[in-house]
Amino acid sequence: MAKEVSQGDNHASVKAPPEPSPLRKAKFFKANMRILITGGAGFIGSHLVDKLMENEKNEVIVADNYFTGSKDNLKKWIGHPRFELIRHDVTEVIGTLNVLGLAKRVGARILLTSTSEVYGDPLVHPQTEDYWGNVNPIGVRSCYDEGKRVAETLMFDYHRQHGLEIRIARIFNTYGPRMNIDDGRVVSNFIAQAIRDEPLTVQLPGTQTRSFCYVSDMVDGLIRLMEGDNTGPINIGNPGEFTMLELAETVKEMINPEVKIVTVENTPDDPRQRKPDITKAKELLGWEPKIKLREGIPLMEEDFRQRLGIPSNKN
Ligand SMILES: NC(=O)c1ccc[n+]([C@@H]2O[C@H](COP(=O)([O-])OP(=O)(O)OC[C@H]3O[C@@H](n4cnc5c(N)ncnc54)[C@H](O)[C@@H]3O)[C@@H](O)[C@H]2O)c1
Repeated sequence: MAKEVSQGDNHASVKAPPEPSPLRKAKFFKANMRILITGGAGFIGSHLVDKLMENEKNEVIVADNYFTGSKDNLKKWIGHPRFELIRHDVTEVIGTLNVLGLAKRVGARILLTSTSEVYGDPLVHPQTEDYWGNVNPIGVRSCYDEGKRVAETLMFDYHRQHGLEIRIARIFNTYGPRMNIDDGRVVSNFIAQAIRDEPLTVQLPGTQTRSFCYVSDMVDGLIRLMEGDNTGPINIGNPGEFTMLELAETVKEMINPEVKIVTVENTPDDPRQRKPDITKAKELLGWEPKIKLREGIPLMEEDFRQRLGIPSNKN
């Protein structure tokens, strides 16, 4: 309930934040919860929906403008009595701020899917959560990196000022079925190229590294973070580290040994190395990834082949 309180010496009368919902600390699989997932028609979001819908008490609402996501990712839930899909652009003003406002109004707990990009081109390796990052504020990649940094700031401001229950996950590269085929991410690029019999295009120098987390591990980490008591930020990613050349070699070997690997110019400010330190996730969430890259690639290949309509000729 909202109540009037006086603040400081000037006796200014301001509204106290509403009583938080008693459900904000509840467990996803134990209580009747109504869960809003913005971007839930996307890659990670739709896998999260699948998992949360497993609990017959949960009601799941997705707000998505289909900018990169698709109704197809949610087709098995459309029409389900516990599921609702709303076409909505959360950026009508500023996305995170809007959702924070909503969480404050209804006393909900809120999770931000932040990113390893907040570390920029890191000078610390592997990256721990207390590293502040090395981001070029005016570079071509900055709007994503700085956007997420501002989103983290807003989350903490609402937490400090209004006592909002927040959780921040710093997601490292994630891959798996339902990834957008042509959005330029490296794993989806290489897999689609290998299936289409096209050369795998490694951006120079090829020695830059990334760490790849399979999507079911990611969803498990996000749920544990949301159910635990720690605000984060917490790195959720797979610490297995690969150079882009190693990744290309692995995809070539596993999907299409005939394809060529070629090098192409890189985009500016491409981080040279990326590997999460997941000590915090292990200690605070009891989480670590289970699926190795070599186990995840075939699962993604199967999904890509279906969507591209190119069956395997291995057998
Ligand atoms: N996949 C990764 O490797 C990775 C890494 C770091 C962080 N993340 C973060 O995780 C989240 C999910 O990423 P993903 O890989 O599933 O991407 P995705 O593009 O598949 O999903 C994003 C979803 O958000 C929707 N969307 C975009 N703008 C919107 C708007 N204004 N209003 C409503 N919906 C909107 C899209 O249509 C899409 O369904 C994102 O916040 C992303 O920044 C992902």
